Amino acid sequence: MKCRSALILCIYVALLLLSGNIVAGNTEDKTPDYLSARWNPLHFKPAIDYALDAQCLGCHQEVLQRKPLSQSPAGIKSSESLAWYQKDETYQGEQETFHRRHMVTSTAKRLMKFKCNTCHQGHDPKDEASGTTDTTQKDLVLRKAVNPDICLMCHGKFDYKVMAGLTGDWPEVADTFNGDCVTCHKEFRTKRHKLNFLNEQEIEKAGEKDSNTCYGCHGGRAWYAIAYPYVRRPWLKRMPGALPEWAKDRPTEYTKRFTK
Ligand code: HEC
Ligand code: HEC
Ligand code: HEC
Ligand code: HEC
Ligand code: HEC
Repeated sequence: MKCRSALILCIYVALLLLSGNIVAGNTEDKTPDYLSARWNPLHFKPAIDYALDAQCLGCHQEVLQRKPLSQSPAGIKSSESLAWYQKDETYQGEQETFHRRHMVTSTAKRLMKFKCNTCHQGHDPKDEASGTTDTTQKDLVLRKAVNPDICLMCHGKFDYKVMAGLTGDWPEVADTFNGDCVTCHKEFRTKRHKLNFLNEQEIEKAGEKDSNTCYGCHGGRAWYAIAYPYVRRPWLKRMPGALPEWAKDRPTEYTKRFTK
């Protein structure tokens, strides 16, 4: 299987080099022009599934280099305009851009291991909608370069209603459990974080030190008013009683893209 992926990758790289030259109309200048770069096959299926971060960064290094301004044009210092969640203890360092916050800051590196194609699955430079022509990619999210479902996994609401034993949102009930999620989760839903963009062990370690870390990805930074319907992997100690209504349609594993 590894061999095949490597072979396919080689073929794409060869095709890329070739196509760049054909579109550019010469064989000497290897710098791609704007249009051929914009339509570079790496942006699309199937090549994007095999793309390495280094290939994307070859053209887009700015996404990991750019830093926010240290002060706004009106003179407000970024260090003095922290949002509420940026004052949380689990948040470290200076203000950072979105990409750096998820890929290069110390917290990001410890808890997560995103690749460009974890989030980027292609986009349509023509109209950013799926299915308008023969050649567009299927399953694109209208006017978004990334399907926000993935954000919901870590930025959704804390769904206390599915958690038997919890009577309210975490900030209201946390004290009852010494602020510790693992009081219950050492027994329930113990098979977790087995995805290729998460550092499973580091997450548990961080949670042991400070349960705020758990809440950070499960409600503490909820950009959405809804909760993510997590898959429900079987765990050792089953919940007593009948299968709850909300759990009836839950799958037990994620797509290969996240588990391979
Ligand atoms: C050969 C250079 C090149 C490579 C390699 C490349 N890109 Fe691009 N990409 C571009 C150019 C040029 C644009 C158009 C920029 C614009 O119009 O502002 C673009 C646009 C984008 C956009 C913005 C789309 C939009 O409409 O706002 C995203 C997201 C993107 N690329 C992600 C990626 C990812 C992820 C990879 C790796 C899988 C990648 N790119 C590889 C050159 C490249
Ligand atoms: C955690 C998810 C995530 C990861 C990982 C990620 N991106 Fe993005 N990226 C986004 C989102 C969300 C946007 C904004 C999309 C929109 O406006 O529709 C974006 C926008 C972009 C854009 C266009 C806007 C800009 O900031 O220039 C480029 C180019 C891009 N990403 C490249 C990359 C590259 C290269 C990597 C890997 C080094 C990467 N991204 C990793 C989620 C991600
Ligand atoms: C695997 C979990 C995970 C996923 C998936 C994820 N994030 Fe995050 N996000 C985090 C964590 C953890 C932080 C806080 C990091 C820190 O404190 O340093 C964060 C911080 C942020 C911030 C605050 C940045 C700042 O510096 O103020 C924004 C905005 C954000 N995420 C948006 C998104 C969007 C949009 C997506 C989807 C494209 C996304 N996140 C996907 C875990 C995730
Ligand atoms: C009183 C015990 C208890 C506490 C404390 C608790 N949980 Fe839960 N949690 C549960 C139960 C019970 C379930 C559902 C088990 C099932 O699938 O039947 C659950 C489910 C979940 C799920 C999956 C939700 C879904 O939709 O599938 C997540 C994520 C979760 N808990 C995270 C947390 C986090 C993070 C904390 C701490 C901030 C926490 N829990 C505190 C008992 C608890
Ligand atoms: C970096 C972000 C992040 C942190 C920190 C984090 N989680 Fe998660 N959690 C996720 C994501 C993403 C998923 C979905 C993947 C999965 O189900 O394994 C998830 C899933 C879960 C599930 C459902 C698992 C299942 O399949 O049944 C539980 C329960 C859970 N987390 C509890 C916790 C607890 C307890 C902690 C603290 C020790 C914690 N989480 C810390 C991101 C995080």
